[in-house]
Amino acid sequence: MTAAPSTGLRAVVLGASGALGGAFVDALRANPRFAEVLALSRSSTPGFDLDDEASIQRCAHAVGQGGAVHWLIDTTGALEIDGVGPEKRLDAISAQGLVRSMQINAIGPALLMKHFIPLLSSDMPTVYATLSARVGSIADNRKGGWYGYRAAKAARNMLLQNAAIEASRRHPLAVFAALQPGTVRSKLSRPFVAPSDALAPEASAAQLLQVLQSLKPTGRAQFVDFRGASIPW
Ligand SMILES: NC(=O)c1ccc[n+]([C@@H]2O[C@H](COP(=O)([O-])OP(=O)(O)OC[C@H]3O[C@@H](n4cnc5c(N)ncnc54)[C@H](OP(=O)(O)O)[C@@H]3O)[C@@H](O)[C@H]2O)c1
Repeated sequence: MTAAPSTGLRAVVLGASGALGGAFVDALRANPRFAEVLALSRSSTPGFDLDDEASIQRCAHAVGQGGAVHWLIDTTGALEIDGVGPEKRLDAISAQGLVRSMQINAIGPALLMKHFIPLLSSDMPTVYATLSARVGSIADNRKGGWYGYRAAKAARNMLLQNAAIEASRRHPLAVFAALQPGTVRSKLSRPFVAPSDALAPEASAAQLLQVLQSLKPTGRAQFVDFRGASIPW
């Protein structure tokens, strides 16, 4: 006989103002297993900015006051930053552009890991997922381009892997996942993909939630796409 799935779960979606973030919030709120789904972003109260660790710490503290968390999904990220789009060629990279992509797509998400992973319940199954991207796979890089975004997503993956190895000692029932959502209609993808060629965020989030529910804790992070297929790091 298998154990009944847990109910009364608490979830936090980070970057809830985005297309995927909003879709995750709606899907989790529609799922009767979740008693509370907190939607945090730059525009929520409390809110956080990836450029401001103190705001991240304040948000995590406020969430922790309500008890342990079972699911954390970080959907933050940006492709065009401060009006600068992804670099197609080596001669288009700049120190400032690379630093900003690292800050938003890797360092900010690492600070979210730092302050939110300790909130995970240590005696119940939990999930920490961060939105990566297939273009963050070094092994899968066939086309090149998008220097800053690719490098920052690869860094986000490494930071998650490190955090997973360390945190699994205290949270052996935790699943850590770097997610590829597919090409999804959003503010981020709009300049690069025709809406008709992209998935609805609701469809991607629904599939990713199914994938996350199927993953088993391994003591390591897992890099998976919305169909449940593993992606090489
Ligand atoms: N869409 C795709 O095809 C696709 C493909 C692969 C991977 N992804 C990844 O999926 C994730 C979600 O993307 P999306 O398509 O849903 O994009 P989106 O709609 O643009 O959402 C991005 C989210 O990141 C937040 N964010 C950006 N800069 C921030 C900052 N400085 N501080 C706090 N929050 C910040 C945004 O907040 P504001 O609303 O305040 O700007 C928003 O909540 C990203 O990590 C993206 O790289 C997307």
